[in-house]
Amino acid sequence: MRLEEGDKHRIERIPVSTVIEDITARKTFNSRGEETLEVDVITLAGFGRASAPAGASKGKAEVISYPQGTVDRAIEKVADLVAPELIGRNADEQEEIDLLLHEIDGTANFRNLGGNAAYAVSLGTADAAAVSYGMPLFEYLAGYFANEIPHPLGNIIGGGKHAYGKTPDIQEFLVLPLNTNSFYEAAKANVSVHRKVGSLLEKADKSFTKGRGDEGAWAPNIKNEEALEIMLKACEVVSEESGVDCRVGLDIAASSLWRSKEKCYVYARDGVKRDSEEQIDFISGLLERYNLAYIEDPFHEQDFKSFAQLTKMTEKCLICGDDLFVTNRERLGHGIRIGAANTVIIKTNQVGTLTDAWKTTQLAHKAGYTTIMSHRSGETPDMHIAHLSIALHCPIIKTGVIGGTRISKINELIRTEEMLGGRAKMATVRL
Ligand code: PGA
Ligand code: ZN
Repeated sequence: MRLEEGDKHRIERIPVSTVIEDITARKTFNSRGEETLEVDVITLAGFGRASAPAGASKGKAEVISYPQGTVDRAIEKVADLVAPELIGRNADEQEEIDLLLHEIDGTANFRNLGGNAAYAVSLGTADAAAVSYGMPLFEYLAGYFANEIPHPLGNIIGGGKHAYGKTPDIQEFLVLPLNTNSFYEAAKANVSVHRKVGSLLEKADKSFTKGRGDEGAWAPNIKNEEALEIMLKACEVVSEESGVDCRVGLDIAASSLWRSKEKCYVYARDGVKRDSEEQIDFISGLLERYNLAYIEDPFHEQDFKSFAQLTKMTEKCLICGDDLFVTNRERLGHGIRIGAANTVIIKTNQVGTLTDAWKTTQLAHKAGYTTIMSHRSGETPDMHIAHLSIALHCPIIKTGVIGGTRISKINELIRTEEMLGGRAKMATVRL
């Protein structure tokens, strides 16, 4: 039936019911084949779902993922403690629900409920509210004017705890595409760099099988600086061909290399040990030589001081804390006070709830830090972080380049860019 002009005044917005009718949790698998937790949140008008990712090189100060270490215990807790409290409440009261999750848990690190249960319920609830309103998640969370698409920071060569055998000690060799007019163009440049690096590795590593690590990055038998040379070469070629400025970045994940008894970083693949001073020299040398745009966790998770020293030495590189801050407000606050880093990784399941992640992001932005919404090495096909990156105004998303669990986020951002049409704008990365 077509509406006549005169009918318009009679149309009323139908009140949407976001009242939660049911919450269920089940065991599913992540990209490493590990058990994980998936939560369904059913409202009178909709349905939301979220599943939890998992880390391999986790920060010590992250919340506890599962009570007594098991997904089964977390599922029981969702059924026994969370569902009875949340049923009957409105899914669009995110802060109240997240606060309630803290109250139900009653500990500082979610060890009772499990951070991953809190994460899946918190995000599943937001998803259910968005679906109930018939809105995309990012718009439900941040409103009509949330239109900035993040740059995709992509993992190209993997080592450390994300790969096996004689791979580099450094965990991630990354590409960051800048000066691009669209997300699609940026994602395409990343794929081109991944492919180019693959063919360069065939020549550099005679034993190369095209094997890949946890995040879809190549896992070759080469040393750290060989990997950097190849990255630089591939970025130069793709930049030239595509017009996108592809820059090299690193996630050292230095806590994995740090031996506290010996007080040094052990680079087993390269056969080198470095104390804290030598580590600063090494990193600042790489920064200059490879014109790095990004460097994550160059020091172990307790060494705020070295982070501050390195940050003072450069204005043209994003110095990022992942294990250092673990998305935690207090740890970030301390970093801000002493000038440690200028960038922070946001992984919601490091703190448990969406509200916690949002508050940390707000604090970072107030202090002029760049924020990066991030996947984890053990992912699920969930694409929520694509929406969270826009909603939380993160100018960068770190979510890999290839592989189904990585591409699900990339493709969702491509769809979102298309949906926003003329309103879409690439976020600004301050470099
Ligand atoms: P994860 O770490 O294995 O803990 O997800 C990835 C990263 O260090 O960025
Ligand atoms: Zn990291």
